[in-house]
Amino acid sequence: MLKKIIAVAVVTGLWAGTANAAGTVDTKALMMEGKGLIKGFATELVGELKKGMKAGGPIAAIGVCNIKAMPITDKHTAEASGWTIKRSSHKLRNTDNQPDTFEARAIKELLARQANGEKAKDMAVTMVTIEDGKKTFRMVKAIPTGKPCLACHGSDIKPEVAAKLDSLYPNDKARGFKMGEMRGIFSLKKEL
Ligand code: HEC
Repeated sequence: MLKKIIAVAVVTGLWAGTANAAGTVDTKALMMEGKGLIKGFATELVGELKKGMKAGGPIAAIGVCNIKAMPITDKHTAEASGWTIKRSSHKLRNTDNQPDTFEARAIKELLARQANGEKAKDMAVTMVTIEDGKKTFRMVKAIPTGKPCLACHGSDIKPEVAAKLDSLYPNDKARGFKMGEMRGIFSLKKEL
């Protein structure tokens, strides 16, 4: 019963302690803009991943992700005026991608929705909040696990790939995902 009440509260965006400050903000336009930014970011990440896989399989691609994922993230934030863009997850590989309070709540909501049958590829959360006294638009979109992701995030990772991941990420939690499952999130925010 308690679980049910919590689920209803989060789906409607009424998180305890979270100010809903939407007012006259055009959240639809912000969402459209955010979606475009996610597309550009995801395309570049997947492009680099594919290049790495082509050049030397998953081992080489891990090296590429390790060196390039964060600089690509920072570049997309720098280029998107006013927006901050990042990735996070409930099962992190790179601990620099730690979720903040909003993201942790959004991840919890999305996992609950997934457990209720929603598909990761269709799930998102948006909210206008007050952060540090400023009206802020927040948007989180679930990232589904696709087939090519399984080589490094699945449950049947080749031993040599696992060894490379172990050496670079001794606290890696980002394994054991199944096709279609939520691997993590894209998270965007903009001060209004
Ligand atoms: C070749 C191995 C490899 C493949 C394939 C791969 N990843 Fe990753 N993934 C990594 C590595 C390495 C990192 C950590 C990058 C870093 O150091 O910032 C990572 C990080 C992430 C993160 C950031 C959150 C975290 O845990 O740090 C997400 C989200 C993610 N991957 C999703 C995916 C998705 C979705 C796919 C499939 C489209 C995919 N990955 C395919 C190796 C891979």
